[in-house]
Amino acid sequence: MSDTDKQLRVSKIRNGTVIDHVTGGQALNVLAILGIDGAGGESVSIGMNVPSDRLGRKDVVKVEDRELSQSEVDVLSLIAPEATINIVRDYEVVEKLRVERPERVTGLLTCPNRNCISNANEPVDSRFDVVDDGVRCGYCGTIVRDDIADHLSVS
Ligand code: CTP
Ligand code: ZN
Repeated sequence: MSDTDKQLRVSKIRNGTVIDHVTGGQALNVLAILGIDGAGGESVSIGMNVPSDRLGRKDVVKVEDRELSQSEVDVLSLIAPEATINIVRDYEVVEKLRVERPERVTGLLTCPNRNCISNANEPVDSRFDVVDDGVRCGYCGTIVRDDIADHLSVS
C-alpha cells in the first residue's frame, strides 16, 4: 500500500464540492449551513478530526452534485476561517478557493432578538455586519458572538 492509499480516509468524489481544512469539530455545523440533514438524499462524506499538517486536526466535508452559494460561503468562513473550497468535476479539482471573512452576511442567519424587525414577518432579509467579536444585526444591533451555527435560519 502506498502512503497515499494509507492516507485516503474518505473516497474521492466525481462531481461536487469538497470543503477541506474545516476547523476540527465543525463538520456538522457546515452541513447545517448547507441545509443538509440527510432528508434531501444528498451524497455526503465527512471526515472529522483527521490529521492535518497545517491545522493539526481538521474536518472535511464532501458533497456530491452540489455547489455553494455566496451566502453559504460567507457564513462558512465565520466558523471555518481556514477552509478551502474545491470544486470537483469528473474527479478533478477544477477550482480551489480560500474562504474570506466577509464584511456582511445576508440571509441564512436569524437575529436572536425576538423583537427585531427581521423577525416580524416583514419582507426583510436578515443582515449581519461582521465585527471583531462576532456578527451584529444590521437592524437592531444585537451581537451574536459564539455558536453562530445555532442561529441559522435553515435547519
Ligand atoms: N478530492 C476529492 N475528490 C476528488 C478530488 C479531490 O474528494 N475527485 C479532495 C481531496 O481528497 C482533498 C481535496 O479534495 O481533500 C483537495 O484535493 P487536492 O487539491 O487534490 O488536494 P491537496 O493538493 O492536498 O489540497 P490542498 O493543497 O488544498 O491541501
Ligand atoms: Zn436584529
